[in-house]
Amino acid sequence: MSMAGLDDTERDDLEIHTGEHVAELGDRLVKAGKLTPRQIAKVTEWQRRHGLTFSEAAIAKGLVRQEDLLVALSRQYSYPIIDRDPHNERFSRELVVGHEPFGPVAEAIRSIRSALVASTRSTHNQSFVVAGARKGVGTTFIAANLALSFAQMSLPTLLVETDLRSPRLGQMFGLDRNGIGLSELLRHKHLSRVPTSMDVIPGLSILTAGSVSPNPQELLCSGAFFDLIEEFQSQFGAVVYDTAPALEFADASVVSARIGNAILVARQHKSTFNDMAELSRKLKTVQCNVLGTIMNSF
Ligand SMILES: Nc1ncnc2c1ncn2[C@@H]1O[C@H](COP(=O)(O)OP(=O)(O)O)[C@@H](O)[C@H]1O
Ligand SMILES: [Mg+2]
Repeated sequence: MSMAGLDDTERDDLEIHTGEHVAELGDRLVKAGKLTPRQIAKVTEWQRRHGLTFSEAAIAKGLVRQEDLLVALSRQYSYPIIDRDPHNERFSRELVVGHEPFGPVAEAIRSIRSALVASTRSTHNQSFVVAGARKGVGTTFIAANLALSFAQMSLPTLLVETDLRSPRLGQMFGLDRNGIGLSELLRHKHLSRVPTSMDVIPGLSILTAGSVSPNPQELLCSGAFFDLIEEFQSQFGAVVYDTAPALEFADASVVSARIGNAILVARQHKSTFNDMAELSRKLKTVQCNVLGTIMNSF
């Protein structure tokens, strides 16, 4: 998986929330004889250059064993991973960033995350739409894993399912299928609270689509949705919006116009050049910034 369209050199002056208590974690590792102070300095430099958290950088440099760090991190520093606890069986294997946080897919998602952080330059809020031209290219897969990787930076993150036509985040995260979600919220404005599932995985909250809606576009065009977006931006450090296939329905354009930043997903050997050009053009006409395109190969 790779991302085109962002300038790599921008990563040098990344400002990110690592969320980990680097000094503390470093100290602990020195005391435990796992790292020398010199290695800590190397890791910190690598972390800064690549927009990683301290532990991600330590593993990338091959200085700490994944298993050692995973145990320490998940217990002491709440780095959200999905371990073998029976309670975690409800999480789909698709959540690769949680199941295999140091595998190649998680690695690819992290480098996309770094590029996104660098491109928006705001350290307070990152809101992105993830959009694909057609169904089945991996838009939802990328949105979910990207959101989880933002949560791994200790950035309070919200994943919003705006695909009110074929919702599937509830099933992916083992949430109540009959639960109310975005469509109920937009239809019944009197709901007293936003039905967000908080900290489904530590740091990652989810607003599912709820029941399938007959008129998604009207709902997403409403002032109520506009107000919600504002609320999310003030409550969360990162907000990732999953969308319905953008060339099949107008929903994704409506959401993109509101958010202003989108990442496109192209599936290798499936998405056509014409579709991707059309998608990009469509989002630009609604004044949405296209930050880059992820080439999803699977
Ligand atoms: N990088 C990937 N690796 C493995 N499976 C993937 C990947 N991207 C997508 N998939 C799988 O492809 C199917 C369609 O993905 P989905 O995210 O639902 O597509 P979309 O939201 O674009 O319709 C799902 O079963 C998903 O798990
Ligand atoms: Mg989808």
